[in-house]
Amino acid sequence: METADRSPNAAEIRPEELVTRLQSGEPVLILDIRPRTERQEWAIPHSLWIDLYDAAQRGDFRLLDTLAVPPTSLVVVVCAAGRTSSRVAQELQRRGIRAASLAGGMRAWSLAWDIATLPSSSTGQVLQVRRLGKGCLSYLVVDSGEALVIDPSLQPDVYLQLAESLGAKIVGVLETHVHACHVSRGRLLSEAAAAPYRIPATDRVRFAYTPVTDGDVITVGSLQLIALSTPGHTWESTCYLLPDHALFTGDTLFTDGIGRPDLKAGADERARKARALFDSLQRLGTLSDSLWVLPSHVGTPLAVGEPLVAGRLHELYKRFVAPFEQPDHFVEALLQHLPPPPPNTDQITRANELGVPPSELVSLLELEAGPNRCAVQGA
Ligand SMILES: [Fe+2]
Repeated sequence: METADRSPNAAEIRPEELVTRLQSGEPVLILDIRPRTERQEWAIPHSLWIDLYDAAQRGDFRLLDTLAVPPTSLVVVVCAAGRTSSRVAQELQRRGIRAASLAGGMRAWSLAWDIATLPSSSTGQVLQVRRLGKGCLSYLVVDSGEALVIDPSLQPDVYLQLAESLGAKIVGVLETHVHACHVSRGRLLSEAAAAPYRIPATDRVRFAYTPVTDGDVITVGSLQLIALSTPGHTWESTCYLLPDHALFTGDTLFTDGIGRPDLKAGADERARKARALFDSLQRLGTLSDSLWVLPSHVGTPLAVGEPLVAGRLHELYKRFVAPFEQPDHFVEALLQHLPPPPPNTDQITRANELGVPPSELVSLLELEAGPNRCAVQGA
């Protein structure tokens, strides 16, 4: 991360600095002043909400009169883009309260991240790199000075610097599928690292890549990941097995549900995809019970320092798959529980099919704002 200005009276605080302060346990009160509809869409966990936005724009700050702030806390005010929050932070400072505005607001928070580590084993090191606001989960698999990145959703520098800090060189970038909830940074990262960009074989993608097919073995250091074709969420969806340790499931199996089969699909196709997903999940059910399932998303924003998002395969299978003995029951239940589609899913999918030039990445952040909705939770 960049070096942060740690002045307690700074008018602005950058997302990476807020992450650092929260990680250090410093008392921080995050005050969300966005309108109710935006707050309901997504929010920073443990933040306090006051419906202040419209009044603040009129210069009316009376709603702050009842705000109780612990004396040692820094108040970080949050809005959508960081402008109105700046006015509120100034008002709090005028009242003698230590306050700062989150620079860039929730849009910038969309790129805030932290890491969690899979309990170590003899099979290398696995880091979960979490895009906190969106709940996107990417992975660094590291062994013997080499690193593989799975489903990168953050700017390439994040992964390059993490790998370097571990004394490793990125030797490959891997996708579990063509994503619809976030703009993949895979192509950019593969170019920056001069490493192959591997995507499950598909005719959807309009740029050069290294195709992955069922049974392929991808090597990183002394480790070998095995590709398992698991169509359903998308036709090309693929899981990667790190034998005796972990299963990178993409959007096929989550810790809180299973992948949705309906995106970019009409009624007939979504039923066929749901049926394919049933078979794919049955296939996963034949793997070792003790594998850690590491998905590519979680459905709600993550708090800084939250534990690793993972579950044991046998527990998730028992909860989400085993209750459906007949595929027809599974398909019916899945299609009845579909959440609303993620925001801007068509544009995000299109960007991932075409490959994203760096010049367009900034404007694409607008598209990505909001939560992930690639899962059917508890279906
Ligand atoms: Fe997805």
